[in-house]
Formats: sequence, structure tokens, C-alpha cells
Amino acid sequence: MIEFIEKMPKAELHIHIEGSLEPELMFELGRRNGIDLPFTTVEEVRAAYRFDNLQSFLDIYYQGANVLQTEQDFFDMTWAYLQRCRARNIIHTEIFFDPQTHTDRGIGLEAVIGGMVRARDDAREKLGISSRLIMCFLRHLSAGSAMETLQQALPYKKYIIGVGLDSSEAGHPPEDFRLVFERALAEGFLTVAHAGEEGPPAYIRQAVELLHVSRIDHGVRCSEDAELVKLLVDRQIPLTVCPLSNVKLRVFDKMSDHNILNLLESGLKVTVNSDDPAYFGGYLNENYLALYRDLNMTREQAIRLARNSFEASFTGEQEKQALVACLERYVQASG
Ligand code: HPA
Ligand code: ZN
Repeated sequence: MIEFIEKMPKAELHIHIEGSLEPELMFELGRRNGIDLPFTTVEEVRAAYRFDNLQSFLDIYYQGANVLQTEQDFFDMTWAYLQRCRARNIIHTEIFFDPQTHTDRGIGLEAVIGGMVRARDDAREKLGISSRLIMCFLRHLSAGSAMETLQQALPYKKYIIGVGLDSSEAGHPPEDFRLVFERALAEGFLTVAHAGEEGPPAYIRQAVELLHVSRIDHGVRCSEDAELVKLLVDRQIPLTVCPLSNVKLRVFDKMSDHNILNLLESGLKVTVNSDDPAYFGGYLNENYLALYRDLNMTREQAIRLARNSFEASFTGEQEKQALVACLERYVQASG
């Protein structure tokens, strides 16, 4: 089963590229750019990754992103992630990035997007991995700042499939960003939003009804509202669930308490994802393996989750069919 999970073709739909920055690369970029880090060793960095909620993680995560300065830095970070995808049989990935984390430090959007696009083009050609970029607005900043960011990004529209909403959830409801998302939809972007990670089920409902999202990121707290679950099932609105992240940030006390397989069995279109793998102790395969180890995920459930990851992706119909076919061939060949 472990080997079956590791080799299974899969897609990742919820990964913050800044959250893939491993301490080793953080130090290298810090040295290269003359940026001091408040740590002297990789071990010290890892020891600091002890979080008790979303905010305690975000504080250290934004600090880590300070080492990112040039187009080459964004390339190196993205390329490192895509190589890890290759090693884990992730054949399609949809990558979040937080432009405001960088533009607020005076880094140009052309460096951020340019580096990521170059890495992704290389990955398509050299690693056979397809990918999309999703630009997230930081919800702890104003809707005005999000609107400004959207406008700045319009020249790069062809590189960006959708927009999302992340950062501190509590007290920052989706409804605050209604106008920005309306504009994004009018410009042809798809929409997603983090909701129901720490925030209440009402935020999930707002994301669906006011932001017209195609997927909910996290969404695990939907289980507190039976009518909401029914709506998500009826419309087959995918949830991009991140098990290791949820346990690290104490959304659930331990993996055996996680509700992901219950959500799956309720008929929800659930997917497995890594969120910020450099911070939460594992990449995508480690998330699947945790479900096998602590929740007794069956082979059939693992296949269903992987199939969902392709079906919930923002690829075209033909590409989607090819990805699903790749999974089916794998399942058949493994007997
Ligand atoms: N939640 C909200 N914002 C984030 C996260 C998350 O899990 N990871 C990176 N930004
Ligand atoms: Zn996230």
C-alpha cells in the first residue's frame, strides 16, 4: 500500500509556493542576497516551526519569504518544488503565490511571476509536469490593496488561471472581498478561497455564494453545518484538504481525529494537498501516507482522492481526461 500510494499519479491543488521554501534554500538565498535571518542553523529553523494556530505559523512564514528578492530566487524555489513533484509522481500542480508579500517589500511582480513561469515551462518540458498559477490576496490586508494587486497583475493575465484568498481567516470574511472577486471573474479568472480552516462554516457559504468559487481551500469545518454539506455535495464543489497542515495548526488535535475520510464518504469532492510542505512536515505523499497510517484509508479511497484531484483541477477537458487515464492505467497495472 505504501508503494502503491507513493507511485500513484496524482495532482496537487493547494500548495503555497512560499511554503515550499526549505530552510536550506532559505539560508542560501539569504546569503546570496545579504539578508540576515534570525537563525544560524537549519536545526534552529526547524525547531522554531512549532505552531499552535494559523497566526503563529503565518508570522514565521512571512519572515521566511523576505529572502526572496530576484527572478532567479523565485525560479529556484519553484524549480525545487517541481523536482520534488517529479520524485513523488505529482503529474499536475496548481500553485498559489502571494504577490503582496513581495510587492509590499518593493519586489516587482515581473520578478515573482517571471521566475515561476520560467520554472513551470522547464517542468513541462523536462519533467513532464503540467501546472497552473493561482494568485492569492492576503485577507489581513484591505480589499483596496487586493484590488490594486489585481490591476497590477492584469498584464500577466495569460499566466494566471485564477485568484484566491489566504492568510489570517478569523475576522476577515470572504464578503469583504466581493468586489475584487467580481472584477476578477469579469476579467476571466477562476476563483477559489480559503474558508472553514479556522473560520466558521458561514465563511464557506460566503465564498460559494458571494465569491462564486470553483473550489474551497480547506473547508473542513463544513461538517458543522449539515445544510452546507448538502449544498457542497449537490454542487460537487471540491475541497482542497491539507491533513498535515490541519494537525500542525491544531485544527485537529491529532491525525486520527481528522474528518477528511468522513467528508469523502459523505459524497464531497475531497482532495489531498500539502499546503506549506516545508513548514508542516511533509509533501503530498506524506499527507496520503498519514491517512493510510492513522485513518486506515483504503486503496479504493486513495484512488478516489487521486481521481478527484484531477477532476477538480483547472485543466482543460482533454488534458483532464489524459490525467485520469494515466491514473487508470496505473491502477490496472498494479492489479
Ligand atoms: N491558511 C491561510 N493562509 C495561508 C496558509 C493557510 O493554511 N498557508 C499559507 N498561507
Ligand atoms: Zn493554504
